[in-house]
Amino acid sequence: MTSIDDIKARIDIVDLASEAGVKLRRSGRTQTGFCPFHSNTRTPAFVIWPETGTWRCFGECNDGGDIFKFVMKKEGIDFKEALQRLAERAGVQLEDLHPQTPEQKEENQRLRNLLEEAATFYRHALLNTPGGAPALEYLLKKRNLAAQTIENFGLGYAPAGWDAVLTHFTARSKPSGPKYSEQELMDVGLLAERDSGGYYDKFRNRIMIPIRDENGRMTGFGGRILDPNDIPKFMNSPQTVLFDKGRLLYGLDRARKPIRAADQVVIVEGYLDVIAVHQAGYENVVSPMGTALTEDQLKLLKKFTRKIVLALDPDTAGQKAVLRGLEAARVSMDHEEELRFDAHGLLRHEARLQADLRVANMPDGLDPDEIVARDPQEWASLIAAAKPVVEHVLDTISAGQDLNDPKVKSEIAARIIPLIEDLPDPVERDSYRQMLARRLKVDERTLSGAVSPAAPVKRLPNKASQAQAEKKSSQTLPAARGGRIVETSCLALLLRRPDLLPHLDRRLQESGLAAISGTDFEYTDHQLILRLIQQSLEQDETEQAHYVEAHLDESLRDTYSSLLAERASRGADDRLLDELIRQVLQIRQQTLSEGVNQLRFMIDDAQQAGQMQATNYLQQMVQYGRMLNHLDEARRKLIEYRRR
Ligand code: UTP
Ligand code: MN
Repeated sequence: MTSIDDIKARIDIVDLASEAGVKLRRSGRTQTGFCPFHSNTRTPAFVIWPETGTWRCFGECNDGGDIFKFVMKKEGIDFKEALQRLAERAGVQLEDLHPQTPEQKEENQRLRNLLEEAATFYRHALLNTPGGAPALEYLLKKRNLAAQTIENFGLGYAPAGWDAVLTHFTARSKPSGPKYSEQELMDVGLLAERDSGGYYDKFRNRIMIPIRDENGRMTGFGGRILDPNDIPKFMNSPQTVLFDKGRLLYGLDRARKPIRAADQVVIVEGYLDVIAVHQAGYENVVSPMGTALTEDQLKLLKKFTRKIVLALDPDTAGQKAVLRGLEAARVSMDHEEELRFDAHGLLRHEARLQADLRVANMPDGLDPDEIVARDPQEWASLIAAAKPVVEHVLDTISAGQDLNDPKVKSEIAARIIPLIEDLPDPVERDSYRQMLARRLKVDERTLSGAVSPAAPVKRLPNKASQAQAEKKSSQTLPAARGGRIVETSCLALLLRRPDLLPHLDRRLQESGLAAISGTDFEYTDHQLILRLIQQSLEQDETEQAHYVEAHLDESLRDTYSSLLAERASRGADDRLLDELIRQVLQIRQQTLSEGVNQLRFMIDDAQQAGQMQATNYLQQMVQYGRMLNHLDEARRKLIEYRRR
């Protein structure tokens, strides 16, 4: 997820508008009020779509957009400033806005070297010191790790006592390598500070697991206890400039190639599970570090594969986490990190990343490392049997229940249906509804009414959950749901092939349509990137792609990289051009139909209230209708054009 998406998910356009003094009235899926941007406001022409976080003024402004555009227009600021303000409000860090200076880069390199030396120090302590002998024994005998595996993963041992690392790295007479300051040791998280002043080793008498980024660069450590009485069981490096748990995946440096080769990644829940499963011959395995999976991590994986299998520990937090969120926590506005691991969260990630997310069940209460110890072949079968999230949830909640009991049926349906209705793909929704109907032995048609008073969906006493629940009860899917997806692929293609843009414009204009412009895109960051592509075509000093890259504002970097990470269509230029045209027409048609629907609604409303303003809307409606016809005609022409 880009920080921009993240901010959008956390800030409600309704709140922004209300704060700007707009009195909103709910009407179906939208909320309506007087436009805050123009003064001549006799009619409530300002409309908000809370689900998509967008707004539009059907009156004088005839303008609209997302939350960024709203703030830009309201405050008269540029995108970058709007981004910063909203990021702060959402509590989202915009790291990309602060590119590293050469000095910082050098300092980071020095800290990495320090961590690399620390890994060497711990490894030496494990393999060659009496203090490390019990740890080595534990790894070899109790955990069945081969010497080669221990070496591959660079495992080590942090000596007991309080100052082994402190002394080793700060000693004046240290024989090898540079001397480091206590501050630097603090900066990489190897020391802790006493209340009374002075420092001591953070990791003591623990098995040390070096944690590297996907490029193999050191970032930190995880340390497992040897003495069962010590706590915590695992101690990780604290958050440092190099170690960011939410952006790293353990084992990815070794797993990235195998992941590509297998076109699949398996996510387990523990360091030692990663190591054991790799040793058993399955090397496409990584784990998060004791925290819920973040979208950043999934995005990182997406560079290597779209097929993601979650191998969750049985009956533990993992399983429950997937199920949690089916109840009260179905609220996206909650800022809890952990909630990202619920079924709704997973499905949203899946849709947005266009990933294939499955869940594999570990049987008999066993961890992955115990499974491969029992039978390595079994691992392969379990992973092959992984099920899509929705199916997994259905299996889990219907386990041990009497599916012939009508009450049970309706309860299960009530919990699953919101998940299904949340899926962006209508084909998938249909097939899941059918599956659910089969499983519950009910007529598929009765399922649409399954969110019944008999099993009410729990509501939280806050606005967000109510909006969510009302959205569910309306049973219609927002037309704009697919909007971002088409918009994104269209722009991604243009970014890759800026040279097609003039051809696209020409074809559109030949059919009597407007050339592509910022107003075609709903999202401010997309509009800005399109403008940059257009500018790149108006110059001939540098190559277009290079121009865009060079003139890209830091605030857009996130969006830019995720656009480049989009799956690219390939093919002859003609085919790509056809695809672009289809996309542009689809976007425009969607926007216009959405507008027509909205206007129809507003007209009804106004007429019911016996108000004259309906005529304004009517005029607009006629114009929208004309534009839609026009679009239709053009579409036909373009298809004929293609056939010729
Ligand atoms: P587990 O307790 O399941 O550990 O925690 P494990 O990896 O299976 O270890 P063994 O098999 O008992 O030795 C799973 C993961 O959760 C994180 C670690 O990443 C661990 O590997 N964790 C757990 C922490 O970060 N801190 C903790 O205190 C516990
Ligand atoms: Mn374990």
